[in-house]
Amino acid sequence: MPVLRSIRKQLIRSQSLAGMRIAACLHATTETANLMITLRDGGASPILCPVSEESLQKDVAAALEADYGIPVVSPAEALERDPQLLIDSGAQLAEVWKNRPGAAVVGSTESNATGVARLKTMAKAGTLRYPVIAVNDAMTKHLFDNRYGTGQSTMDGILRATNILLAGMNVVVAGYGWCGRGVASRARGMGANVIVCEVDPIKALEALMDGYRVMSMNDAAATGDVFVTVTGNRAVIHRDHFDKLKNGAILCNSGHFNVEIDLEALSRVSSGKKQTREFVEEYSMRDGRKIYVLGEGRLINLSSADGHPAAVMDMSFANQALSVEYLVKSHSTLDKKVYAVPDQLDRQVARLKLEAMGIIIDRLSVEQENYLSGWSEEA
Ligand code: ADE
Repeated sequence: MPVLRSIRKQLIRSQSLAGMRIAACLHATTETANLMITLRDGGASPILCPVSEESLQKDVAAALEADYGIPVVSPAEALERDPQLLIDSGAQLAEVWKNRPGAAVVGSTESNATGVARLKTMAKAGTLRYPVIAVNDAMTKHLFDNRYGTGQSTMDGILRATNILLAGMNVVVAGYGWCGRGVASRARGMGANVIVCEVDPIKALEALMDGYRVMSMNDAAATGDVFVTVTGNRAVIHRDHFDKLKNGAILCNSGHFNVEIDLEALSRVSSGKKQTREFVEEYSMRDGRKIYVLGEGRLINLSSADGHPAAVMDMSFANQALSVEYLVKSHSTLDKKVYAVPDQLDRQVARLKLEAMGIIIDRLSVEQENYLSGWSEEA
């Protein structure tokens, strides 16, 4: 993770995180460990609260505690240690912190789209208690992590769990945000016929013009072989859809929370379930059809695979580290609102990534800058 490494070097020199107690709610992976070590080396005392059991790489958690002195605890335990800064996912820490009077938190970052939406709602309602930097919305996060990271690691998760051939299959992608765009493009790249389901007319139109079939989930349910939910919402595949699914349909989720497939309803309408492979559960329907659910409806890329590759987490976590440093320096000037990652930080991440890849790009000449900022052709 060369971008994070270069930020780490800079933080070691500046010690600009000195004395900060930071609680981070992230998937406990090797890439996250790298971020934790970067924060520690910048002078902070970080604590990791794993997002979930399924995404917790136990060897990583053990090494963080034993070799680096970084505690790995639940959000409730992290709260007891009075953190000053939060690195949140899906507003999970914000939820715990909401009812805690006198907490020392001066700011937070948020790393996913559902979390950013929730925190904006809290800010509007006046219940947000500290400024938030929406790391998810940085260009160097969502254009790469959400799109190429989720796109690739979701396919990786499906293939590791099932070993199916995607070529020629109807793959239904629910949600055409940055993650959905990535999943759809990678599924198409492997030869699948991709169908997109969307509630937003602009995104639906975009999917159509990107060359995918677009239809309602009601229609897609009868056609799809593999279903991937990436909407950030609940019950996207529900009871009515289960009645229509083909025998052998495979359902999985790549959204942050395991609420996108209504598994309670599936249990109710099926006559039983059994595990057929690791990460694969077969539900028997009363009419004889079999429906397969991967990873119990949890994030498939982290349940049955290793999450996004380091090359993309490098940029996401560089944004986290720089946003944390920005909050340490600037929190007293910020309101209890959700802020974008400052543009210069976003561009710094892109520049460092290009540098690490040995790519040199053009620069505007003085004449070109004048031309762009002037009023006339002659400027
Ligand atoms: N989210 C998706 N992939 C991840 C990874 N490798 N590390 C941390 N969070 C992730």
